[in-house]
Amino acid sequence: MMLEVRNLTVTYDARGAANEAVKNVSFAVAENSFCGLIGESGSGKSTVLMTLLGLLPAGAEARGEILYKGRNILGLPEDGLRKLRQREIALVPQGALNSFTPVMTIGRHIKEVLEVHLGIKGEEAERRAAELLGEVELPADIAHRYPHELSGGQKQRAAIALALSCEPGLVLADEPTTALDVITQAAILRLLEKLRREKNLTILLVTHDLPMAASACSELFVMKDGRLIESGAPRDLIRAPKEEHTKALIAAML
Ligand SMILES: Nc1ncnc2c1ncn2[C@@H]1O[C@H](COP(=O)(O)OP(=O)(O)OP(=O)(O)O)[C@@H](O)[C@H]1O
Ligand SMILES: [Mg+2]
Repeated sequence: MMLEVRNLTVTYDARGAANEAVKNVSFAVAENSFCGLIGESGSGKSTVLMTLLGLLPAGAEARGEILYKGRNILGLPEDGLRKLRQREIALVPQGALNSFTPVMTIGRHIKEVLEVHLGIKGEEAERRAAELLGEVELPADIAHRYPHELSGGQKQRAAIALALSCEPGLVLADEPTTALDVITQAAILRLLEKLRREKNLTILLVTHDLPMAASACSELFVMKDGRLIESGAPRDLIRAPKEEHTKALIAAML
């Protein structure tokens, strides 16, 4: 297994169990699969992702196990986590459209990540940045542009290029298509699927959009109020949802 989450419980405020944002969640993501974590707003999806990356805010507490390639990474010290982030587990953040620094070109963003995480600089970084932009089907001249000079879809592609810059094995994509029109959404999903196949990536997609997740993913994990209430292949979930909440999500897509 690429990733196994076991009995994960997360509180932002350690004072009370009533504040648990994630409650005893377990799921497994197979290598090279495209899985989806779905659920309504506030169900705990982003909290799960942030916990996977060791990026919970100060004061938050996580219990359970997160096995990445068989090794428990929950509670790993910060320097160990820093090595994992970006190089092993990369995030396409929620709101990626606004996650670029306005005064830095796209190329500069990519080159900084390459330098900080891999020590790659100069011409090699330049070449690698152009290559990455090609992989996400953006023209190389995008490197010289500032974020506001890109369309929403282009920015999303650039955010994916940034996430892929250090050749991670696992990509966490948090609502990567929200705020895009449906045609661009579909194009971004196709791109992720192409990258999964070509680069042997494992993708965990987070979304509240069941039809989108069902079209992209081979397995879905459904969350509600911090719990994982149901999981399975999209076809099975849609044909025979066991939980009322899954039924409601399906009803919303019809
Ligand atoms: N930094 C934080 N401090 C305190 N509580 C938080 C923090 N971030 C999230 N929460 C709470 O944790 C719960 C789960 O939030 P989370 O952001 O994980 O949901 P989500 O499923 O990603 O929602 P959305 O679809 O809106 O992005 C919510 O009740 C939220 O208010
Ligand atoms: Mg979220």
